[in-house]
Amino acid sequence: MFNAKITATSHYVPPRTVPNAELEQTIDTSDEWIRTRTGIRQRHIVDKGIATSDLCAAASRRLLESRGIGAGEIDCIIVGTITPDMFFPSTACIVQDKIGASNAWGFDLSGACTGFVYALATAAQFVHSGAQKKVLVIGADVMSSILNRADRNTYVLFGDGAGAVLVEPTEPGEEGILDFILRSDGSGGKYLYMPGGGSLNPTTHETVERSMHFVHQDGRAVFKYAVQGMAEVSAEILKRNGLTADDIALYVPHQANSRIIDAAVQRIGLPPEKVVLNIDRHANTTGGTIPIGLDEACRARRMRKGDRVLLASFGAGFTWGSLLLRWTY
Ligand code: ACO
Repeated sequence: MFNAKITATSHYVPPRTVPNAELEQTIDTSDEWIRTRTGIRQRHIVDKGIATSDLCAAASRRLLESRGIGAGEIDCIIVGTITPDMFFPSTACIVQDKIGASNAWGFDLSGACTGFVYALATAAQFVHSGAQKKVLVIGADVMSSILNRADRNTYVLFGDGAGAVLVEPTEPGEEGILDFILRSDGSGGKYLYMPGGGSLNPTTHETVERSMHFVHQDGRAVFKYAVQGMAEVSAEILKRNGLTADDIALYVPHQANSRIIDAAVQRIGLPPEKVVLNIDRHANTTGGTIPIGLDEACRARRMRKGDRVLLASFGAGFTWGSLLLRWTY
């Protein structure tokens, strides 16, 4: 158990929605294929010139407003993203400047779809140790910036969006973040990656011509490992805390594919009303899915003070993890 809790949530998605039917106009796909294979009906996509930090800043401003605090009170900003504005400076530094969090330090954390869970666990440690009092944790990606518009295998799966939470110390005797399990297996890197632009394949005309700056994925392999990983890590955290599905009020899984979520839900035996599912509206926003889901659920009053909430994710790396917490407001 950690002396850290979530005290506010927020999210921001760009206003422009792209329904599946619109994708039918440019690539060899169909609304029916996308819906039945993934559960996705539409995604939000940024307009040209809008970067990950813009989505993060918008979500952060909403968060500060709902918590009723000023940006100057933030101690630390952690951004879980694989689509930073640029390699450096970090998106966290850009967000710090955009929102005017002049007393904060911060950094980006690269955990792909598990980036938010990694970041939340990291924030919990900073708060638990007493080092920081207010940590702004953001999960955000502009996936449209690294997708190949000609590749139907990947282009239809993703969307753009950001979600944020504030992590603060618990009151004496109060429970907040209870436990987490974090995993990675680098041997899975070959199934989902972006090969170009880093130190291995610095940008050249050739890397651009060979489409190396886009997401490359073996969808079937990722699907298989994701089903297994997300289900296992969800079941394991329940077991080691002596809990069953009855003890969980809400499950907020990463939104990659509704069939991956179904498999995890079946494994831990949760009824559908306890599961957050918004992939139909947002598609896979990578770092954004869990905090967006958490905020939507919170605003829809799907959890009450004292409820146990379970988060779980699986993504590129491979990375995966689960986090159990008590809702405190
Ligand atoms: N429209 C129409 N047909 C398509 C499309 C498309 N957009 N994309 C692929 N197809 C075709 C394939 O080419 C294939 O044709 P073929 O049999 O002639 O080769 C056919 O559809 C079936 O392909 P499968 O791979 O068997 O389809 P599957 O049911 O596995 O679904 C999918 C594919 C949706 C990508 C699935 O494997 C998946 O969700 N994988 C996980 C990937 C993922 O979510 N990654 C996100 C990041 S990681 C994460 O967040 C967990």
